Amino acid sequence: MTTPAVTVATQTLAGHLAQVFAQYPIEVAHGDGVWLHARDGRKYLDFYGGHAVAGLGYGHPRWLAALERQARQMSFQTNALPMVIRERAAARLTKFVGLGLDTVFWINSGAEANENALKLAFRLTGRSKIVALEQSFHGRTAAAGAVTWGALEKWYGFPRTPFDVTFAPRDNPAAVEQYIDRDTAAVIVEPIQGVSGAYDIGRPMLQALRQRCDDTGALLIFDEVQCGMGRTGAPFAANLYAVTPDMITAAKALGNGFPVSALLMSRRIASHLKYDDMGTTFGGGPMACAVAEAVIDVIESESLLANVRLVSTYIRSNCIIGPVTGVQGAGFLLGLKTSRPAKEVQAALLAKNILTGTSADPHILRLLPAYILNEGHVDQLSDALARISA
Ligand SMILES: Cc1ncc(COP(=O)(O)O)c(C=O)c1O
Repeated sequence: MTTPAVTVATQTLAGHLAQVFAQYPIEVAHGDGVWLHARDGRKYLDFYGGHAVAGLGYGHPRWLAALERQARQMSFQTNALPMVIRERAAARLTKFVGLGLDTVFWINSGAEANENALKLAFRLTGRSKIVALEQSFHGRTAAAGAVTWGALEKWYGFPRTPFDVTFAPRDNPAAVEQYIDRDTAAVIVEPIQGVSGAYDIGRPMLQALRQRCDDTGALLIFDEVQCGMGRTGAPFAANLYAVTPDMITAAKALGNGFPVSALLMSRRIASHLKYDDMGTTFGGGPMACAVAEAVIDVIESESLLANVRLVSTYIRSNCIIGPVTGVQGAGFLLGLKTSRPAKEVQAALLAKNILTGTSADPHILRLLPAYILNEGHVDQLSDALARISA
């Protein structure tokens, strides 16, 4: 018997909300660790992590303590007033990444980080064109949407894109020369594409992009909004693949649910900045900076990168079962390839109290769990998959 795809929830909680999201039929009341508790009393094992946001899981005591401490001390101050927490968190983040990306601009969302990265690339190079990769997702603002594959046809909405964009194939290192030239201001790439289904761009392609950018004077931007901040089992995918971009954007797990994003840049880029080149009200707010610092503290002190690597390997060995025929991605950004439509497998898992994500690929089920997930949790997923027909 086929299981129906996850249905859109009834609209009882949506009377005043813009109807732009298909929703899962779970009304979340509270969460702890990797568990979600619904209002109807059901408890779900969460392999979706609030779409890659809840890296530490829900209610981590040190994240909560950092938030409370900072809220009591000083909840908000504009960037016009210096605060030590802002500089301390930036120092912590740049140390976590390494790679000489030593300057941070704090903002609030992934799209906003990408928007600023693209703007800097135009400013610095004086060029007019961006190269992105097919199947990429970079966000929904005018510039981030313009470099997102398929956005114009699906949801873009602006009358025109703000600059020229060329999409290059994501799996052909030999072809990069055809796309990147001396008019290219920057190449933007998710080293592991998230929305497209945890698709690993891989080292040869990333190296080819780096080389071609060096040859032509274009800048290389890694959008690590989804794959960064420990999700691959390395601090960033740039570390995992030993390819150093000129800029990295980070968001999602950076705040573990508190909105914060960052644009990291090399010293060479930072040296060109002057007052008013970029700006923000909420970016660099002390609470955002305090949680970012706490997230890095917890990742390091609880050895969560090692846990991600260990448990990811365990998923690969134990979850090719039932309707799952293969695994792609890295760390805890994994795509399970499914013989049946992934939405059906997702619905069947949800009926067994396990929440997973889907992707733009109809045959990829996406796993984005918290870094504290353990092998016992994976056993529950693998047992549930084994009970779903292929
Ligand atoms: C790789 C990537 N870049 C950018 C974004 C946009 O981030 P935000 O929704 O915080 O603007 C997302 C969101 O899913 C993403 O996955």
